[in-house]
Amino acid sequence: MITPVLLCGGSGTRLWPLSRKSYPKQFAALIGDTTLFQASATRLSGPDFAAPMVLTNADFRFIVTEQLAEAGIDPAAILIEPEGRNTAPAVLAAALWLEKTDPDALMLVAPSDHVVPDAAAFRAAIEAGTGAAEAGQLVTFGIKPTHAETGYGYLELAEDPGDFAARPLALSRFVEKPDAARAEEMLAAGTYLWNAGIFLFSVAAILKAFRAYAPALVDPVQAAVDQGKPDLGFLRLAPAPWADANDISIDYAVMEHADNLSVVPFAAGWSDLGGWDAVWRETGPDARGVALSGPATALDCDDTLLRSEDDALEVVGIGLKNIITVAMPDAVLVADASRAQDVKQAVAALKAKK
Ligand code: GDD
Ligand code: MG
Repeated sequence: MITPVLLCGGSGTRLWPLSRKSYPKQFAALIGDTTLFQASATRLSGPDFAAPMVLTNADFRFIVTEQLAEAGIDPAAILIEPEGRNTAPAVLAAALWLEKTDPDALMLVAPSDHVVPDAAAFRAAIEAGTGAAEAGQLVTFGIKPTHAETGYGYLELAEDPGDFAARPLALSRFVEKPDAARAEEMLAAGTYLWNAGIFLFSVAAILKAFRAYAPALVDPVQAAVDQGKPDLGFLRLAPAPWADANDISIDYAVMEHADNLSVVPFAAGWSDLGGWDAVWRETGPDARGVALSGPATALDCDDTLLRSEDDALEVVGIGLKNIITVAMPDAVLVADASRAQDVKQAVAALKAKK
């Protein structure tokens, strides 16, 4: 059985004003009626999957339980991180918890803030990677790149992805977040895929990799799990040892070093919703590029996102071109679509004002 391990710790500031520190994007209904977190959990449920584990922090614990209950999903465990230490300690904690409870499990580690419109195709890709994971490979999922993105990791294939059929391919190298020039080179080469940040491996294989490539993490995280306190159905990891775990992503800690990586190509649509431009694309713009969400009306607009987050808040755009508008009762964003990534800077500026 495959245990989904849902990572639910980030804050997603590039989707301000919808995504806030206290209510990050994974808990919002960004696309469709369910939240990204609910959609992720639902996508990874069914006959092939055991009950999921969730890794989150204390602030989000009740949002997590509420949203899982609403989606009809009963979690195997919710681990509470005393503070965010990035994805490596989180994944390691999940693996060490499973080592005690279900040591033969395969783990499907997935962020809870991605959009994958075709859940069946995604489950088929997971199925295609299962044999390799059972054989001890660290399986990643690779997306066909469309532009020279610097916010993603890249997977260099040892073989041509061909028609992108879902099958495990050998990986020569993992390159986390390149600079722009390097990203252009990799896009041009045609043998690189984007790392979706979704991983499938056995408990034994990932623990072996952590012990080999990130040994300093193992003792503190093991102690944090062993000394963790059960609390209302959550397991609170012990803060003192947890504080000794380095803040590092699984990509840098393990994937960049491992020599037993496989990648399953995935071409059925994926977005990490890294900005409002991505939300615009996923909202299904019409022939003129206009995407509307909530009570919104566009007159003679092109390539524009108009989004209202309140049923009582009408948003109207007239003659707009390349504009993103997101209106909430307490904040409104109006931005040139080409500057969508700068929302992060705007949030920093707001913080500095406080
Ligand atoms: N529980 C927990 N604790 N979750 C965390 C933590 C943490 O401390 N830090 C991050 N996460 C969650 C985030 O909420 C997100 O769902 C996921 O782990 C990945 O973290 P991000 O911070 O969003 O990573 P990224 O987008 O910069 O890069 C990763 O994802 C890209 C694709 O979206 C990398 O894996 C890249 O290689 C990849 O291309
Ligand atoms: Mg991300």
